Amino acid sequence: MKKHIAVLAGDGIGPEITNGAIAVLNKVGEKFGHEFEFEQLLMGVCAIEKTGEPLPQYTIDRCLASDSVLLGAVGGAVGDPRIEKLPGHLRPEAGLLKIRSALGLYSNLRPAKLFPALAGACPLRKDIAEKGIDLVVVRELIGGIYFGKRGRGTEEGGEYAYDTEKYNVSEVTRIAKIAFELARKRRHRVTSIDKANVLESSRLWREVVHTVAKDYPDVELIDMLVDNTAMQLVKNPSQFDVVLTSNIFGDILSDEAAQITGSIGMLASSSLGATKRGLYEPIHGSAPDIAGKDLANPIATILSAAMMLRDSFDLTEEAKAVEEAVNKVLDEGYRTADIMSEGMKQVKGSEMTKLIVERI
Ligand code: IPM
Ligand code: MN
Repeated sequence: MKKHIAVLAGDGIGPEITNGAIAVLNKVGEKFGHEFEFEQLLMGVCAIEKTGEPLPQYTIDRCLASDSVLLGAVGGAVGDPRIEKLPGHLRPEAGLLKIRSALGLYSNLRPAKLFPALAGACPLRKDIAEKGIDLVVVRELIGGIYFGKRGRGTEEGGEYAYDTEKYNVSEVTRIAKIAFELARKRRHRVTSIDKANVLESSRLWREVVHTVAKDYPDVELIDMLVDNTAMQLVKNPSQFDVVLTSNIFGDILSDEAAQITGSIGMLASSSLGATKRGLYEPIHGSAPDIAGKDLANPIATILSAAMMLRDSFDLTEEAKAVEEAVNKVLDEGYRTADIMSEGMKQVKGSEMTKLIVERI
């Protein structure tokens, strides 16, 4: 099979980690007889520097013409003079939101799994971690408050600013269906997150999720308030299977879910819409503090490439080969700095990539 992959390496550690994923995909191509072609495109601070905007139209057009998109990370350090004074719509993050929306990627899957080899890196108490963590956050990605009406003005009390959380029935229905379908392939449980005791948008969310649930009598549905979820994730994470959330709640809870598995450097994500063209990215950011030092853990991006193989190209066996290679390297005791623990062998990011490539 021949596939054209758009690569948005982005900023900070973005180029290092996407290079890791490209090396892995090239090995998969060689081994299984596929041809993957990569096209590097600008997005983020690097795009702002060269074109004045975080997501040039050319990048959008080329992504739309590709079979799938691999993304590193975007954003600069706090106080970075290149972005500090930029208005919101020209910030690097705006580019990321815009590409998700331009490609219609409403469904963001963020699996959080505790790798047995990394149990030592889990910050939770041993008796809690021992029950296991294996959940997927299904995050609505192109609606809600990140895309709602916002603005500033002045009133009696002085200057004000506002953002709006708004969802309609079809937006909630389509993401809820994704969650229930996924639960059928897993442990048949959906926990739907809202703040229905306060927010009107959450009350609609809950109603719609219950309507969709009627078509899935074999899947258990639990409503959970977002504040309680934040607590349950550290108290008893083994209760979660599929966690269905709005855009903002999923953003927040997926960072928490990542951290309880040991390192945010391990977690992959996929974003899909109505077609097979998806966007695959690690859930961590651009980590400008460690950029260029070959310290970054490439595994989250490599596992995102595995998700691309499975979800965009239906290459199940190839995806498994990548995941197994990652497991093997971890079992053999190799660790990047972020997941290092006593008695393990510490390696640089590029060495980690090489070890994984060798095991495919
Ligand atoms: C993420 C990030 C982005 C988001 C930012 C950079 C716009 O935090 O992918 O979780 O909020 O979605
Ligand atoms: Mn986030």
